[in-house]
Amino acid sequence: MSLLSQKHLLGIEHITKEDIKLIFETATEFKEVLQRKIKKVPSLRDITIANLFFENSTRTRISFELAEKRLSADVINFSAASSSTKKGETLIDTVNNILAMKVDMIVMRHPNPGAHLLLSKHIDAQIVNAGDGTHEHPTQALLDAFSMQEQLGDLKGKKIAIFGDIKHSRVALSNIYCLQKLGAKVKVCGPPTLIPKYIESLGVEVSYNAQETLEWCDVANILRIQLERQDIKYIPSLREYNIAFGITKKMLDSLDKKIVVMHPGPMNRGVEIESDVADSEHSIILQQVENGVAIRMAVLYLLAGKGS
Ligand code: CP
Repeated sequence: MSLLSQKHLLGIEHITKEDIKLIFETATEFKEVLQRKIKKVPSLRDITIANLFFENSTRTRISFELAEKRLSADVINFSAASSSTKKGETLIDTVNNILAMKVDMIVMRHPNPGAHLLLSKHIDAQIVNAGDGTHEHPTQALLDAFSMQEQLGDLKGKKIAIFGDIKHSRVALSNIYCLQKLGAKVKVCGPPTLIPKYIESLGVEVSYNAQETLEWCDVANILRIQLERQDIKYIPSLREYNIAFGITKKMLDSLDKKIVVMHPGPMNRGVEIESDVADSEHSIILQQVENGVAIRMAVLYLLAGKGS
């Protein structure tokens, strides 16, 4: 029985501020566990989790697997490239066959927005969304906000700018939902063609000027251009994107304050972010990755109903 308000973590849109706070409190405890010599607790030793990745991943797949192993769950990994989905099996049949082997929970990344919602109507097991196309990436938003909170304290009133390809980014949408639930102000910045028209209806400000946005914000969360999701050309070239929107050390040095620089990865150095920004004292990019394991431990633990 989930200790969150939802049975599944399909997205941030439908969870509550209280859910987010509980995930952060639980992640803080697990982060302490991860500093120990033996980085493992027996909390999920009676649970079997299947990681189903129908789309490429480095950070999220490894982070979930580590989180599950740190919680002592049994883990199976599924990669679409070597599975029978290639022979025409449906998603629902594939998952039901895996669940027939007494699997309790599904962590899934899928290229189709809404794939997790569809699945949730056909299976009993709990589902964690590890990214669904251009829709949501809830655990990324949770680890991002948790990392920001470590740097800035309470996020209420803090100014968070999200730079880049907002149109194709599930990270942007989940970040917007999460940060707004925590009371932060959110501004997006990028070329007009990569900012969806509906974005202002979410209460988000829009800027097309990277330097002005850096001057406004406490945190710059920099996203990559998702060429693999672009059916047409939305920008003339990556070179021109870099000239107009690439974040440079010179831009950061010109500010009269220190801001926090973040990136969910994978990073394209020299396009949306220069190397000396990614590796600067402003950057918490590797802390984000570290926090991802504790956040995912917390999500799995609470969904499994293991909290006190
Ligand atoms: N941030 C993120 O989702 O990275 P991966 O695609 O490597 O999982």
